[in-house]
Amino acid sequence: MTTRTIFTTILSAVALTATADNLRIATPNTELLLSGEQGRQLNFVYYGHRLSTADEQALEAVETKTDAYPAYGMFELTERAIAATHCDGNQTLRLTYSGSSQTQDGGATTTIVTLRDEYYPFTVKLCYKTYTDADVIEQWAEISHTEKKAVLLRQYASGYLPILRGNVWLTQFGPNENNDEFDLATERLIGGMRVIKNLDGIRNTRTCNPDVMFSLDGEPQENSGRVIAATLCYSGPYKVRIDTEKDSYHHFFSGINEENATYTLQPKEIFRTPVLAYTYSTEGQGGASRNFHRWARSHSLAHGHQLRNTLLNSWEGVGLDTYEPVMKQMMDDAAGLGLEQFVMDDGWFGNACPRNDTSTGLGDWYPNPQKLPSGVGALTDYARQKGLKFGIWIEPEMVNTQSELYRAHPDWIVKAPHREMIYGRGHTQAVLDLSKPEVQDHVFGVVDRLMTDNPDIAYMKWDCNTAIQNQGSEYSLAGRQPHLYIEYHRGLAKVLDRVRAKYPDLTIQLCAGGGGRVNYGLLKYFDGFWTSDNTDAYQRVFIQYGASYFYPAVAMAAHVSAAPNGSTGRQVPLKYRIDVAMSGRMGFELQPKHMTDEDKATSRRAIADYKSIREVVQQGDLYRLVSPFKATGQASLMYVSPDKSRAAWFWYMTEFRRGQHYARVPLTGLARDKRYRVRELNPSANAPLAIDGQVFGGGYLIDNGLPIPDNFRVYQSAGGFASRVVALEEVK
Ligand code: GLA
Repeated sequence: MTTRTIFTTILSAVALTATADNLRIATPNTELLLSGEQGRQLNFVYYGHRLSTADEQALEAVETKTDAYPAYGMFELTERAIAATHCDGNQTLRLTYSGSSQTQDGGATTTIVTLRDEYYPFTVKLCYKTYTDADVIEQWAEISHTEKKAVLLRQYASGYLPILRGNVWLTQFGPNENNDEFDLATERLIGGMRVIKNLDGIRNTRTCNPDVMFSLDGEPQENSGRVIAATLCYSGPYKVRIDTEKDSYHHFFSGINEENATYTLQPKEIFRTPVLAYTYSTEGQGGASRNFHRWARSHSLAHGHQLRNTLLNSWEGVGLDTYEPVMKQMMDDAAGLGLEQFVMDDGWFGNACPRNDTSTGLGDWYPNPQKLPSGVGALTDYARQKGLKFGIWIEPEMVNTQSELYRAHPDWIVKAPHREMIYGRGHTQAVLDLSKPEVQDHVFGVVDRLMTDNPDIAYMKWDCNTAIQNQGSEYSLAGRQPHLYIEYHRGLAKVLDRVRAKYPDLTIQLCAGGGGRVNYGLLKYFDGFWTSDNTDAYQRVFIQYGASYFYPAVAMAAHVSAAPNGSTGRQVPLKYRIDVAMSGRMGFELQPKHMTDEDKATSRRAIADYKSIREVVQQGDLYRLVSPFKATGQASLMYVSPDKSRAAWFWYMTEFRRGQHYARVPLTGLARDKRYRVRELNPSANAPLAIDGQVFGGGYLIDNGLPIPDNFRVYQSAGGFASRVVALEEVK
């Protein structure tokens, strides 16, 4: 596709003032409106639903204008998007509008608005990318200068949005420590500063996520009210600031966390910030999520439109005991259950330092001859015979000091000079310094060698289990220490670019001790993420619900594990465990050898059922119906195909009290004028739904939902873990 510059200056149909350029950054249903006058501050005018020309014209009278990218130094001091120290020591910036351009590339339009300091040769280009098929704006900044010596960037937000004050509520997610990813919290924004941040170094959603939603019309609603949702597409330390002082706005900034990453910018070097992606919806938080999901599947998730395989992963079943006969037995069982893929997790590698516990082996990515005497190839061959795809676990950014790699390259790890090392997992794990080109080659080589030796590997689980705990890099000494965090992620992106260039079809799962690294900076390279190491189905109802605000089900791994659960000890019946896994990318994570024949038969039927709704779950529109976080005793969600002819409805009891009656769940998302046949999936043996096979009008279901028997006898046997999965199909 050729790139074409179509404007040097954008003049919209109606300029807000006679001399100003009216800059319209539009998606199919939304628009951001800026106004730029040569030599003056660039103004933010409006962000919201797409406007008519007449509306745009009327804005002059109703909208106050405010700085579109506030810089430090002039006017009263408040939070700023950018702060820099010039080569002569001057700490101030005064950025003024100096023109704009727009280019088109296929369905994508990039608008570049140039700001220049009125005295220093210092330039900020604000870049906005939009698509004809997604209501998300991607924004980033490109900062450069031609001063005589380096300039110090002290702050450099990817984007800034002023949000008019009123009854505005913030929804945020995390922190994710202790196997409780995507915990959802919501609060009304009041005065002062809200900061959501990370400093981990490499697993940036180990703390809270940089995903935020602003509900502009009071307490968040699922299907109504105006919502702005935003996330930083970055895998390193970030900082989200929401500052509310004495003017009319909540000032929202998002970008790299500068606390340990001030950046020395050389003359002519271009510093490109990560992308801030945001959307606007008038259909509540549900509408904002659907906008993000559609954008992700089309533009920010590897193979977003491909259906994902069901799989068995070895980790919770056998831990590090990945012996060839065990792997083959698991593959026999996986094939017998009707699963489509097998993933050999941690434990398979290391020779001189075999991976028999978590303190050894990372770095030595060749098969342990004791465990896999015939190599990985024998397993990929076996998988092929069984009709399975084969996947393998790696943690290529890491090394244990007990490894051949560390012995050969002790200087490859992230380590501040003159300081004693602090190690991570297994008390020997260190992070490889990806700011070093030879380390980048090594990490790419891990994938490349495995794929060259075993071309049948179809899937990799790419893990990351330790934070940077030694805040420095011997490599980037000489005044560039704070660059480590930025250079690390640049290095990682370079490696992943090479991996994707050479292995475009490989499926790669993003993992960091569960969901410690779920962000759209990385997901463009990855097919999905391991949502949490917590596979307790009850808690997964919450975790997956929280994850769904920004991330689509096609990317969200949800595995059926053994009971009692390894993380929580909870004893959850198999039906509930399966029903929770069916609402994401379904898999199993247990030793099938230990399943009863009855459980295997149930699982086999459920896997077949899942395949019948997989397309709706993985590619459909999500409607969240009842939030588990609202503590009403139940949770519910549904996926609907874009033409609304098919749907999959999920219902989970989250609190059981004898004698409780649960409110019927309106099946929002269906089409009022269609008729749907109801088919229960994975029915419970003692109480299948009596309405199975019946046909209902969409209007009836939207208003009344379906009756779910809630008498004591039905649920006693399940210890209160009741759940239902229902497929709905249009009847013409
Ligand atoms: C991390 C992952 C797990 C598993 C282990 C293996 O904790 O999240 O799924 O792969 O590592 O060590």
